[in-house]
Order: sequence, then C-alpha cells, then structure tokens
Amino acid sequence: MVGGAGRVASPRIEALIARMTLAEKAGQLSCFNDEIRPVGAVFNPVVSPRGAEAMLADIRAGRVGMLFNGYGVAGARRAQAAALESRLGIPLVFAADVLHGCRTIFPIPLAEAAAFDPDLSRRAARAVARETTANGIHWTFAPMVDVARDQRWGRVAEGAGEDVLLNCLLASARVEGFQGPDLTKPDALLATPKHFVGYGAVRGGMEYAAVDMSMAALRETFVPPFAAAFAAGAGATMASFTDFNGVPVSANRPLLTNLLRGDLRFDGVCVSDYDADRELIAHGIAADEADAARLAILAGIDMSMQSGLYQRHLSALVEAGQVPIAAVDQAVRRVLILKERLGLFDDPYRSLDPRAERRETGSKAVRDMARTVATRSIVLLRNDGDLLPIARRGKKLALIGPFGADRANLNGPWCFAGDSARGIDLATGLRGAMGDPASLIVEAGSGITEPLPGGIERAVAAARAADIVLLAIGEGADMSGEGNSRVEITVPAAQQALAEAIAATGTPVVVLLRHGRALALTGAVRDAPALLATWFLGEQTGPAVADILFGAVEPTARLPVSFPLATGQQPWSYDRRSTGRPAPDAEPMAAGRSHWRDAADRALYPFGSGMGYTRFALSDLQVPATIAAGAIVPVSVRVRNVGTRRGEALVRLDVHDRVASRTRPARQMKAFQRVTLAAGDETRVELRIAADALALVTGDGRWQIEPGMFDLWVDAGAGTEIAGAFRLE
Ligand code: GLC
Repeated sequence: MVGGAGRVASPRIEALIARMTLAEKAGQLSCFNDEIRPVGAVFNPVVSPRGAEAMLADIRAGRVGMLFNGYGVAGARRAQAAALESRLGIPLVFAADVLHGCRTIFPIPLAEAAAFDPDLSRRAARAVARETTANGIHWTFAPMVDVARDQRWGRVAEGAGEDVLLNCLLASARVEGFQGPDLTKPDALLATPKHFVGYGAVRGGMEYAAVDMSMAALRETFVPPFAAAFAAGAGATMASFTDFNGVPVSANRPLLTNLLRGDLRFDGVCVSDYDADRELIAHGIAADEADAARLAILAGIDMSMQSGLYQRHLSALVEAGQVPIAAVDQAVRRVLILKERLGLFDDPYRSLDPRAERRETGSKAVRDMARTVATRSIVLLRNDGDLLPIARRGKKLALIGPFGADRANLNGPWCFAGDSARGIDLATGLRGAMGDPASLIVEAGSGITEPLPGGIERAVAAARAADIVLLAIGEGADMSGEGNSRVEITVPAAQQALAEAIAATGTPVVVLLRHGRALALTGAVRDAPALLATWFLGEQTGPAVADILFGAVEPTARLPVSFPLATGQQPWSYDRRSTGRPAPDAEPMAAGRSHWRDAADRALYPFGSGMGYTRFALSDLQVPATIAAGAIVPVSVRVRNVGTRRGEALVRLDVHDRVASRTRPARQMKAFQRVTLAAGDETRVELRIAADALALVTGDGRWQIEPGMFDLWVDAGAGTEIAGAFRLE
C-alpha cells in the first residue's frame, strides 16, 4: 500500500494495520499535550485536560499516538512503558515546539534569519536537535516557514521574514539540521514545516484571522518554503488554523490533499494545529464535533491534536459509512511509517537515555553555538561618525532602558523549556567584556509599557555623566509571538518618552533595540546616531551584544524584514509589485504617483539593510547580454574593502522582469554570497541565478519561464548598488 504520495509501508506496518481495531487506529491518530512529565512554556489554552493517570490509562488502552510539549527522559520512559503494555505495543512518539532551543535558548528564528547564512542555520538546528532529543523528544513542530509581510502579526518572530528565497533556503537548512543524515539515530529530530499554508497573510495582521488570496499568489509566495522543506526530507507538516478563501485549512481538501499530496507529493504526516479540528464548529463550517472530525479526516488531517475528536468519533463515522476505512488506514499508515522511520519499532527507548540528557543539556557546545548565532543575528543599521565599535576601557557608559539588567525578556516567544535564570543580561555581558566594569552605570529609566516614578530623572543624570548612552529599549517578550498581533508596531510610549529625554542631554546614544518583528521607529529612536537591531537573542544576549559593541566580532547580519516608516503601511515588503504609477526614486512623494498622503511607498530600512564596521565598493559587474532558455545566469562583480578594518560583505543580487504575462515584483532577491576581505583587498564574487528562479506562476497555477529583458542589481549594502541587465531567450 502507498503510505503517502510515494512511500510504501513495510510488511511489519501492513501486518500491524491488519490487526488493529478501529479504536486503536483512532488512537494512533490522536495526540495530546503531555500531562505525564513537565511541559515547556508554550502558548496553548488548556483544552480537555485528563491528568497523568487518566492519560497513562488511555495510553495502555492504545488510544494515544503521540504526546507533545513534555520534556525530560524519566517521564518519557514512564509513558513509553505504558504504551508497550498496550495490546499491540505500538510505541509513542514524543513531539515539542522547539523553535529556537529546548533548554538552551537561541535567538528567535527571525533573528537567526538575519544572519543570511543557511549553513549556520543548519548547524544551529543540529545543535538544538542534540539537546532536544537528549531530553526525550523525537519530533519538533518546527521550522515555521510562513512568509510574513505584515509586521503587526506576532508570529513573524518564528519564521524567516518577508523574502521567499531566504525562507526557502532556511526552511531546508533547518529541516536538514534538525533531522540529520539518519532519522533512526538517537539525535535525529523529525522536522515539521508549518503552518500549511498562507497563515502569514492573516487579515490586518490579526492573529487567527481569515486569509484571502489568489492561488497564484499562494503558489508563488507561500508554498515555495514548504516545497523546499519537503525536498529536504521533512517527515511531517502542520495544517494552519486559518480560514483560507472561505474554507478553513483543517477542512480544505484542495489544500491538504490536492496541493499537499498531489502537486507537492508530500508523503509524511499532516498533524492538525491545536484543537483546530474542533474549531471548525466556531468557524461555522461544522455543525458538531462528529461533523468536524469527518471534515478533517476527509480533507487530509492525519493526526488530530488535543481535541480528542478522532478518539471519540472516528469509529462511529466509519461504521456509519460517512468516512471510508481507506481514509483512516492511509492516515494510520503514515503515522506508523513515521514511527518506523524514527526507529521506534526497533528501539522504543530511542532518545530516552538519562546519560545523554545529562551530557547534552546546557553543554558547552550548544551554548557556544547559541552565542555564535546571537552575534551573527545583530544588524547594525546606523553608525554615524563611526561611533561604534566602542573602546573596552576609558569610556563612561550609561546602560539605560528596561532591558539593561533584565533577564525575563531575553528569550522571546516559544522558548519551550528555556531557563531564563540562565540567561546572561546586557549589563552582565557588558561588564564581562569591559576593561573597567565600574565605569558602566545602569538605570532602567522606565518600565516596558509604564513609566517608572523618578526613572527618567535618574536616567537623564546618568546620561549626563556618561560619554555614551546604550539605550536598551523595545518590545517585551509577551508583545511578540502567537496571540500577540499589535495595531501599532512602535516602541511603547513610556520608553519613547525616555528616549526623547535621553537624546535631549546631548550624550551620543546607541540604541540596542529588542524586538520580535520589524518596528516603526520614530523620533529620538529613529534619529539616534547608532542603531543595532538585536531581536530576542536568547540566553547569550549579553555576551553577544558586547562582542559587537566592542568590536570583538563585526556585525554581519542583514534585515530579513523591512522596518517601515509607519504601521499604516502594513502589509509591506520590498518585493511588492510595481503599480501603473510608481513614484520615481528621486521623488517618492511626487503628485499623482503611488504613495500615501503621509508616507512614501518606501521603508525606513528595507529588507537586506545592514552594515559592518568597514565599507565596500563594487565594480565591473559582468553578466552575459543574452541567456539561453533554461540556462543558469552567471553574474560576477568585483568587491573591494575600502574601509580600515577587515570585514565580511554580503553581496546580494535582485532582479526585475520588465515585461511578463503577470505583473512582477519591482525587485526580488535571487542570490546572495558572503565574502571576507582585509582592508584594501579585493576579489571577484560569482553569483548564479538558477533558471527556474526567474519563473512566475500563471493564472492557472503553472510555473512558467517567460523570455524577455531582466534588470538586475548587485549590492553589498550601504549604497554600493550597481545595475545591469540581460535578455532571457
Ligand atoms: C500552537 C501553534 C502551533 C504549535 C501547536 C502545538 O497553537 O499554532 O505552532 O505547534 O499549537 O503547541
């Protein structure tokens, strides 16, 4: 039998299916929040809790296929022992929302995306997988691969931002990193690109809102990262909560079967989101729970998460002839194949080794990797007068703002089993790197959303006594992530007031921004002479920011999301399509052209912004005048380090298809390459555009490459852009 689009089940699996009762089949298709062992800090409403003893009884009765969001080997061994006592002894699989670390918390995925470094992302995911599997978890509900262009949406923090190519590259890198070369290995962590599909385009950026778009837009922007993740071998996917064009994804057979299994040929398990099948009732699509269960299994949801709908209703639906047994068997086959691929039938106690748990949890290797990712995620957006890097001694520094000596807001959203007490805050990190730590003054100045009585006065006094202010402001962890869409993506007013007062002292200010999304910066925050985007960097926040501030490490990251001029521009992305009246670059507010009355159709810092401590110049762009149909486009450019320090350039290539059967992005990234050069050195960088990267999706949903002229731009940041063009035959 075919388990999915193309995976054939082993004789062992087929023999098992033949012996299973309907109730046991429904059990394998049911998963629940783990109540047997401690649960990580996750964002889920409590739905039908059972308690540990009832859950163990359910497991012994063969009514549970997977537990999620618990961690720790001892509890997992207890649950697995119960599963092996069941009639058929089918082992449990253990999953969890490990997006950016299990016990050691890394920068949020959006921060890591700023590194523009698939190899780093792959290594980081591998390090996370080693610690996660050692904590008794086989399967992560990650990477989140929802392209996100509306920064009001809190979950932009979980993904790789607004660009399709960067999302595709990081989706496959993270899948490869999590899963490793052999899924049966104890440190192999099954990956789940989520949330299939289009969740990032919720109306108004509002959490859980409806999504409406053309299938062409879906296929061209939101599907490719899933295709990349599946091509990398992802073993599962998760359906989105959202209503897509009037049919919630959990009941949407065209998406979950025709697109996912047909076009994308995905053969892994499709798990529902949390209670999402039961939510079909609230969507107004299902009349009751049985109806919801029927719609979900027929659409293509293999596993029902937390609601218990399959446990309670699937047998009766099959017996009543409303659900064919073949649909149930196909879902069961996929789940059992997943467990077999993980080696659980051969070793049900795989990854449940207390020695590995002690060895890998908080290991030097995983913490060093967390620090490396953190330093490579920090984006330098402004550095007037080369204020940065700062000398390690001889400067009086005032660390001002609610995040200066704060550990509660280092990790950001979805930080699972992270121990925030282990986090290293900014003050500690800075003191640890300074030659004279006594010359650091720390003043909160304000709360995160509320003023601090006397705070501004104390902070102003500290600023007056300092040579440089480090202003640690931005979003609290609870302002980002799931359920935290914001209607104004600004720095909270109390902190803005602090920033204005500090700027008025005249002491130079370096803004250390903390955030889970792009922000609309205003006033003294926007105008500060130096600005670092530092995201939520996790446990190693303090040391990583110190590395960059004092120049031990050069900032090399670039923005994966555009910082807008104002919230009102959202949704906005750098690769938006031109209009019939584009505003000229020289006159972005030209009358009668495309802009708002009070803002240009521009970003303050568009996707890809960022610089280092040196400068580069580009010259001698070479690209063939004509390219044969289907051929690679070879582009090369000379890059020279014209600054005074060794540095790493990110050379990026964007294209624009001048004339096509559908309107095209004004510009879109098609390649990027990093190169490190000593001051005064130069080299030639080769970039290649794959032929299919120039394709578009036609109105009837086909990918098509169309001949014609293409503009191209190559840049290495900070105004180095040079242009070219080629004709595609
Ligand atoms: C949450 C999220 C999803 C997560 C799941 C299980 O609501 O939408 O990303 O994997 O529930 O925790």
